[in-house]
Amino acid sequence: MSERLEDIAAAMVANGKGLLAADESSGTIKKRFDVIGVESTADSRRDYREMMFRASDAMTKYISGVILYDETIHQKAADGTPLADIIKASGAIPGIKVDAGAKPLARFPGDTITEGLDGLRERLADYYKLGARFAKWRAVIDIDVAKGVPSATSIGSNAHALARYAALCQEAGIVPIVEPEVLMDGAHDIDTCYEISKATLTKLYTELYAARVVLEGTILKPNMVLAGKKSRKVSSPDEVAERTIKLFRETVPAAIGGIAFLSGGQSDEQATANLNAINAIGPHPWKLTFSYGRALQAAPQKAWSGKAANVAAAQAAFAHRAHMNHLAALGQWQPSLEQAA
Ligand code: 13P
Repeated sequence: MSERLEDIAAAMVANGKGLLAADESSGTIKKRFDVIGVESTADSRRDYREMMFRASDAMTKYISGVILYDETIHQKAADGTPLADIIKASGAIPGIKVDAGAKPLARFPGDTITEGLDGLRERLADYYKLGARFAKWRAVIDIDVAKGVPSATSIGSNAHALARYAALCQEAGIVPIVEPEVLMDGAHDIDTCYEISKATLTKLYTELYAARVVLEGTILKPNMVLAGKKSRKVSSPDEVAERTIKLFRETVPAAIGGIAFLSGGQSDEQATANLNAINAIGPHPWKLTFSYGRALQAAPQKAWSGKAANVAAAQAAFAHRAHMNHLAALGQWQPSLEQAA
């Protein structure tokens, strides 16, 4: 396949395929394994991810790329094949999370800044040799209006870090996924999510231009515009679609390689229904697909529960969610397809 950044980016969002975000840090995957009663060890993490990457029905038809964690890109399957090679053999592109996580922003209680720029040039060169052709960096913007969160300083610092990361990726021949996640955890309404997301994306693209990042060789990984969880309001798919597309038309250049949403704590079906509604009101200037972690993996994790005997059932659960999200990326999903399965 072509090694041009814009071709890699285009392949990541082509034909209703989307990304599997399997880049949970060791701390996060432990939390997921706790829920299914599985001890998190290097081997159990390997077995789980090998099960997903060998789910050939899901991988070959619906998945364009997989975001890996540092441990995983170095791991070999039980038979000695590097996990990255299993992904490549399915036709999907291996990618890598390169940020070092969100840390408290000094003097701004409640705000975070994502770290990981030091030494990034060298790490990207290593990841390229291991097969990664795209990377991910996640900035985290929480909302707590009463406390003045997020501050303009947090939005600005995170956008600047994303731009420095993106430029380093492109220098290394790696497509940057730029992820400015406005969290859905707060008690805010949908209008507030829209306003904060607008400020965040406006700043992000200002910084990407200033850093001379080639937009065609980038993928945006945004949140959808919706009411916070603690507001106890569930925004309807039509509302989410209308607000999200209005926001993107105002702030996101048509030139970028594409858009791949995070799921952010939405239920599996919500994440699918909202993506479908977004695509159903197209055509849009960008391809809009999924880059889901939880909304793709919750069902297969439960089905697997750490038992080799459950591998086929877990792979089927993954294939079903990937299929539903593939249809949503084309605006062709229907709720009845969930019941049928
Ligand atoms: P979720 O879909 O679970 O939000 O994870 C996607 C991701 O990669 C967040 O950085």
